[in-house]
Parts: sequence; structure tokens; C-alpha cells
Amino acid sequence: MARMERNLGFDLVRATEVAALQSGRWMGRGDREACDQAAVDAMRYVLNNIAMDGIVVIGEGEKDEAPMLYIGERIGTGTFPEVDIAVDPVEGTSLLAHGQPGAIAVVAVANRGSLFGTREIVYMEKLVVSEEAADVVDLTAPVAENIRNVAKAKKMDLDDLTVVVLDRPRHAELIQDIRETGARINLIAHGDVNASIQAMVPNTGVDMLMGIGGAPEGVISACAARCLNGGIQCRLWPRNEEEREAALAAGLDLDKVMTVDDMAQSDDVFFAATGITNGVLLKGVRYRGQGAKTHSIVMRSASGTVRYLEADHRWDKLMRISDLAFDAVN
Ligand code: FBP
Repeated sequence: MARMERNLGFDLVRATEVAALQSGRWMGRGDREACDQAAVDAMRYVLNNIAMDGIVVIGEGEKDEAPMLYIGERIGTGTFPEVDIAVDPVEGTSLLAHGQPGAIAVVAVANRGSLFGTREIVYMEKLVVSEEAADVVDLTAPVAENIRNVAKAKKMDLDDLTVVVLDRPRHAELIQDIRETGARINLIAHGDVNASIQAMVPNTGVDMLMGIGGAPEGVISACAARCLNGGIQCRLWPRNEEEREAALAAGLDLDKVMTVDDMAQSDDVFFAATGITNGVLLKGVRYRGQGAKTHSIVMRSASGTVRYLEADHRWDKLMRISDLAFDAVN
């Protein structure tokens, strides 16, 4: 595959910034659909102006029937490069709707045909760690063994290690197993892409993500892993017999432990995320009278460069060059 010379990450971050600016206005108003709609509209507007021929392979919304950038949607100006797009305009819609920490806008782009997409399965089992521990974990091994191996690889005491888990009844046994090791647990309400990035970035205070979360989110996290050299292992997790049969009929291997090489095959991955509400890694949007400040991460797998970007936005100038209304909730 031809190497993309342009760093598309800089284009992508403009899309996540605008999605955050627009959807952040809905913080705490309890309207999930308005949060998603504002982010989707803004993100689609910017992505459509980027010189690329993109197809959405991971789009949020099917699960919730939320407004979405739908799977199969063509995005961009239609010119080179041909790319796959994985997008979650608001990762943690409920967090945003309730004004809680950790909502982000996120998008990743990779060479056409390189991202794993599935419509049959909604969830995946996940295990995410940083580069230092990538080679010592195994999704099929007992929880305690993985935790001990990560602690050893990171030269940490077990009781200093922090594992993030989505707070769900389906994780009762997992949580019990983690507690028995003595490791610390951070139970989160939503947002396992954000937590996966935290587990892969050094010095965030998060060492592992474990448990079952959204399959699209797993692929987006794999894009981040490609950029951060993080360790990610996922296995499709059908919710019921119907999903299992549909997956098997589609030729999916339900036993396979997928790694970054299965989910984000290209080494030309570009990734951008912007904080909407405050979080461990990214600050949320800070509005002022006639503008706002955003905080983003921009990554490129080929170079391995990870950038943090603080941006100041002015409504008056933005509205002269764009069709989006930045100065008010629509
Ligand atoms: P959204 O992007 O739809 O807001 O997803 C939030 C999220 O918490 C993801 O981070 C996670 O992977 C998934 O939902 C978990 O699904 P569920 O809430 O059904 O357990």
C-alpha cells in the first residue's frame, strides 16, 4: 500500500475539535440524541471537506439507533487517498448528557480495506495494556495471571496497579477476580476507548482495561494501539444465540483472539480525539464569551508521533469561513 505523505491527523483533529465544540454545548442537558446529532453534523461537515476518498467502516449509532455517520457512508472530497474511517463523534454520550467526565470526540483513518468492521456483533471482550506489557498478556489466560504479568513487566507492586472496567453486571466475576489479586479497580460508567488510550499512554495512572465493551470501540482502540504501540487483544462476544449464528454465517471466528494486526492492519493509521467533558487524558471544552478552548491528542502510526494540542477558537472568525453556527445551541 502506498504510504500517505500527508499527516491526515491534522485534518482529523479539526473534525474532532468541531464535534466537541458543538456537542459540548449540550453537556448535562439530559438529551443524548441532541449530543450525538450536534457532534455528527459538525464532524460530517469537516470530514467532507478533507481531501480524501473515505468510507465509514466503523460508525457509531447502529446499536442505539442514534444519529450517526453510518457504515458505508462516503466521506471526503473523493480524491486520493482511499481510506477507511472509524468514527465515534461522541464516545460516552451518556457521560456528556449527564455532565460527567470522560466524553471525547474521536476519529481514525487508515488505508482502504485495513480496518476490521462487523455489523453482526455488538460487543467484544477486551484486554488493553501499554507497550511495556504488550507481550506478557493473553486474553485466554486467567485474570490473575495477566495482572501479575503486567505488574512484573511494569515493575509495579500488584496493589499499585490500576485496572479499568466498565461497571456492568456482566463483569461481576471479572471484578471479583481482579479484587482477589489486590489490584486497584476504576469502575467507569462509559467510555472504554478513552480508558483504552489511558491504559496505553504512559503515566496516566491507568495500567489495564479489561472486560466486555462495544465492538466498534474495540476497533477504534486498535487504531490508537497502532499509533501508541500498545497491546490490545479482543474476542467477539455474541450476546445471544441469534448473534452467534449470524456471526458464524458471516464467516466470523468467535474463538479468535484478535490483535492490532487483525483490527487495524495498515501501518498508516491517523488518529485524533478531543475532550468534550473533562477527563484523565484530555480536558473538556472550556467556553468563554465569544469562543472556546479545546484539548486534543493527534497521533500517526508511521512516525509514532503523539501530539497534544490546545486550541483557541473564536466564533466570529470561524463563522466567516464555515457554515456552522458556533455561537449558540442550535
Ligand atoms: P457511546 O459511544 O455509544 O457513547 O458508547 C459508550 C460505551 O460506554 C462505550 O465506551 C462502550 O464500549 C460501550 O458503550 C459499552 O456498551 P454498553 O453500555 O451497552 O455496555
